[in-house]
Amino acid sequence: MTERITYHKILGEIKHNPVPFNWNDQTLYGNAGESLTAALLANGIRTLRYHEKDGKPRGLYCNIGHCSECRCLINGVRNQRACMTPVRHGMSIEQQTELPHRIKGGR
Ligand code: FES
Repeated sequence: MTERITYHKILGEIKHNPVPFNWNDQTLYGNAGESLTAALLANGIRTLRYHEKDGKPRGLYCNIGHCSECRCLINGVRNQRACMTPVRHGMSIEQQTELPHRIKGGR
């Protein structure tokens, strides 16, 4: 495992407790309680999604929950920020390929 943080300003103390999680049907390991983006980076995952309009790769940007560049489908729920979501045993994360939402009655 690569070098890990031991404290996160928002999530608090990060204990080293490796657990499996699924990324696009691939089993990876992260420390329970650390952010998903930290676990994905530690596993060499840099692209979290592709831009819905131009198809360019997008990844971690602010890492504090402001930009939404890290939004993923987490446990079947769309538009979840991976940087604000702690790793839990067996959770499922997938790249999101659609726009975040449609305004009812809009185009
Ligand atoms: S990286 Fe900006 S909200 Fe997650």
